[in-house]
This record gives sequence, C-alpha cells and structure tokens, in this order.
Amino acid sequence: MSGDTTLNKKKGMTRAPRNRTITLSDKDKENYRAKLLKINGPVSVEQILNRVINQDIFEVMDFLPSKFVDLLFIDPPYNLAKTFNTHSFKQMPVKQYMEWMDSWLQKMGKLLSPTASIYICGDWRSSSAIHLLCEKYFIVRNRITFEREKGRGAKRNWKNNSEDIWFCTVSNKFTFNAEAVKLKRKVIAPYRENGVPKDWEEEANGRFRLTYPSNIWTDITIPFWSMPENTPHPTQKPEKLLAKIILAICSVLINCA
Ligand SMILES: C[S@@+](CC[C@H](N)C(=O)[O-])C[C@H]1O[C@@H](n2cnc3c(N)ncnc32)[C@H](O)[C@@H]1O
Repeated sequence: MSGDTTLNKKKGMTRAPRNRTITLSDKDKENYRAKLLKINGPVSVEQILNRVINQDIFEVMDFLPSKFVDLLFIDPPYNLAKTFNTHSFKQMPVKQYMEWMDSWLQKMGKLLSPTASIYICGDWRSSSAIHLLCEKYFIVRNRITFEREKGRGAKRNWKNNSEDIWFCTVSNKFTFNAEAVKLKRKVIAPYRENGVPKDWEEEANGRFRLTYPSNIWTDITIPFWSMPENTPHPTQKPEKLLAKIILAICSVLINCA
C-alpha cells in the first residue's frame, strides 16, 4: 500500500509523520477491486470461500448457500445520519429502523449452520431494535458493551462512550471458547490460602490473575490516525474486537440442551 493519498497530494497537504492511516493509491484500488467478487446467481460455498463479496446485501442474499455460516458478525449502519463512501444513511424513528433491519435479518436465518453464533453491533439508539429482532429469530445469549473512548464529548448531553454487540445463537449447541479470551487483570484483593496466592501471581509490576471475560469490554481501542490498522472508513471496528469474537467461536462446542 502506498504511503500518501492522491487526495492529500491534490490538496497540497502533507501527512503528520506519525500518521499511519492505510490509504490506497489509484493503482492499489485497481488491484484490490479486481479481487472483489460480484455474484448474480446461485453460488456454492467453494465459489465464495475466502473471497470478499462487494455488493448490496439485498442483491446477494437469495443467491448464497444454505446453512454455510458458522459466525455471522454484522456491523450495520447505526440509526444515525452517516455517509459511507457513495451511500448515505438517514436517522429514523426506532420503529422504522427496526422494519429496515427486519427486511434483511429475516433472510439471514437460512444461511446459518445449526451451531452458528451471531454477533450484531449497535449503539444506544439502535440496541433496543436489535434486541427485539434477535428475540424473534435467534436465542439471545448476552449483550456485550464495549468502551468506545473517542472524541471530546458534548456540553448538552452525556458523551456517548459505549457500543453494544448482541450475542445470539441458532440453537443450544454452539461454540464458546472462554479459555481463548481470558483477560490478565490486576488483583485488587490478593487472597491467600494457607499463605499461598489463590489463582494469582506476583510479577515485577504487580499481582495479576487470568480471568474469564465479562460482557463489559474496556480493553478495546478505537482505531485512530497513528495506529497502523487505521483506515479512512468513518466507523471502522477495531481488529482486536473481531479477534476476540473469532477466538471465542473456535474449538469448544457447548451443548446447553
Ligand atoms: C457501521 S459500518 C461498518 C464498518 C465496518 N465494520 C468496518 O469496520 O469498517 C456499516 C457498513 O454497512 C454498509 N452497508 C450499508 N447498507 C448496505 C447494504 N445494503 N449492503 C451492503 N452493505 C451495506 C456501509 O457501506 C458501511 O460500510
């Protein structure tokens, strides 16, 4: 990927030396565009495996294979006025947002394997709609809230510092690998049993314990300009957030039946 944008050059702007935002030259864009997939008829799993389908979801959903998805991660436009490249999204009453969401979510069920997990992102404005719709189609298991520290805040309201991810499954059989997403945390009350540390270890810079993860995530950093994963996308999700979810659905099959 090239270091500077054509747009910046045109505007005569120079990038700050620590700005590591991924930007693409016209040649990069051409190369990546050639690898994107467009589908206009039914496809097999093999035809789409490890490929990126770059199309309106409404055009492709009916052509995708049945029961092939083990992890459905959806980061839909939130209920906000926002422009994504050439598309704009308008804020609407919650009920209308719910109808819009239902128009694509109702078709997702047939794509999911019987042990699939579903994670759907939202903010405080869209979360209630996501919850109610997930209840309609899946088994709702939890709502993760992650701290989203970005921006300077507002003087007339509480600064919005969090987002939600609704966790659902298709059935009572699903994968959840808690061991793979354990967190190292500072021990506040270091308890000992017969003089021996209970579940914690003494390290040079403090006492720590590996704990199972909760539904409050405070270890996520929203990508910003000096981070190498940053792109110009207005609502980019952090790589670490996706890594946690992918790790959690690997290997360990749970049967709650
Ligand atoms: C909240 S953003 C997701 C950002 C993404 N998770 C990331 O980390 O870059 C919502 C995305 O949904 C896309 N989108 C909106 N309507 C769509 C549709 N009908 N079909 C496909 N994508 C759509 C928008 O272009 C936008 O990129």
